Amino acid sequence: MSIERTLSIVKPNAVKKNVIGDIFARFEEEGLKIVALKMIKLSFKKAKDFYREHEEKPFYRNLCEFMSSGPICVQVLEGEDAISRNRSIMGATNPAEAESGSIRAKYGDSLDENGVHGSDSLKSATREIKFFFESHEIYCRD
Ligand code: CDP
Ligand code: MG
Repeated sequence: MSIERTLSIVKPNAVKKNVIGDIFARFEEEGLKIVALKMIKLSFKKAKDFYREHEEKPFYRNLCEFMSSGPICVQVLEGEDAISRNRSIMGATNPAEAESGSIRAKYGDSLDENGVHGSDSLKSATREIKFFFESHEIYCRD
C-alpha cells in the first residue's frame, strides 16, 4: 500500500444533475483528499487529446462530443491506493453493471454518460494529472 494521486472528473451529465458535492462527499467518506480542483469546459480538440488512447474505438467521437458538451469538475485525489480505490468508489464503466452504492450506479445515465472518470493505472494517473494541473496547483494537505 502506498500514498497515490489519481485524476478524477465529474462528467457533464453529473455536473448538470447538481451532484458535485455528493460525489466529493463519497471521496471524503472513503478518506481520499482533494488536493487540486477546477471547473472547466473542454474543447472538442482537448477532449480528443485526453481520450486519445481510445482513438480507434467506435465510441471515441461520441465520448469526446459528450465530454466537451458542458462544464466538468476535474480534481486530483490523494490517499492510500487512491487509484484503485477511486475505481471501486466509481463502480463499473457501465452503470447498469456498477456495484450498488457506487457513484456510477447512482449517477450514471448510460455507458457513455456514466458520471465520473478515474485514472486506471499509475501511468495514466501521472499523464492525466499533468494534462490538467501544473505542479504548483496541487497542494499538500497534511
Ligand atoms: O472510464 P473507464 O476507464 O471505466 O472506461 P474506458 O473503457 O476507459 O472508457 C472511457 C469512457 O468511454 C467510459 O467511461 C465511457 O464514458 C465511454 N465508453 C463508451 O461510451 N462506450 C463504451 N463501449 C465504452 C466506454
Ligand atoms: Mg479508462
